[in-house]
Amino acid sequence: MLRKRLFAWTYPSLSARHEALVEERKRALFRRALALRPKRVLEIGPGPGPNLAYLTPGLEYLALEPNPFFHPELQRKAEAQGLRLSLLLGRAEAIPLPAEGVDLVVGTLVLCSVEDPIKAVAEVHRVLRPGGAFLFLEHVAAPSGPYRLLQEVATPLFAFFGDGCHPNRETLALIRARFPRVEVEAFTLPLPVVAPHVAGLAFKEG
Ligand SMILES: C[S@@+](CC[C@H](N)C(=O)[O-])C[C@H]1O[C@@H](n2cnc3c(N)ncnc32)[C@H](O)[C@@H]1O
Repeated sequence: MLRKRLFAWTYPSLSARHEALVEERKRALFRRALALRPKRVLEIGPGPGPNLAYLTPGLEYLALEPNPFFHPELQRKAEAQGLRLSLLLGRAEAIPLPAEGVDLVVGTLVLCSVEDPIKAVAEVHRVLRPGGAFLFLEHVAAPSGPYRLLQEVATPLFAFFGDGCHPNRETLALIRARFPRVEVEAFTLPLPVVAPHVAGLAFKEG
């Protein structure tokens, strides 16, 4: 619990730096997702809530966040943004919602941190309605080579100090394995170890 509290205290400044680097991309991605007219949006691992600003006031917003020290900030931001918030304490590997009840799932910088990303992606797919979309932005493993080797070596340190973050995950392959249609862009940010990033929308069949 001390590590969780410490992460919730230190992460917002890191998040703000990261946000400045991805803001334009996220804005375009959320615009595209909101054009699908979702009414019920679930976010897995929202942390301090950098994505709430991209959501339209009045939406039903379910925030599944296992770290309770992020909850007060999520509450504050949801209120400021005019979202109808339900805070859920739980994990993406076992989303406490029935199947096919959500129009849009959002997950940014979270599949690197969950304990079991295969289960988490399967759960995202389960709770989405047919034709629903998963908006993702993640850093993923580099192709094999010296940079990938660095990621392998750095992963235990990142996992310990970064609340379970794994720079060596092949997350895009996991998303592609579960979703029949994935629109994705890969890009590199001026950050050490965590490169490349991928961002896009994955659509459930139906
Ligand atoms: C690196 S932070 C990212 C926060 C935010 N999504 C962002 O884009 O800045 C990772 C978040 O995932 C959450 N998390 C970790 N394990 C999780 C799990 N199994 N299920 C859901 N969320 C999880 C953490 O509590 C944290 O809020």
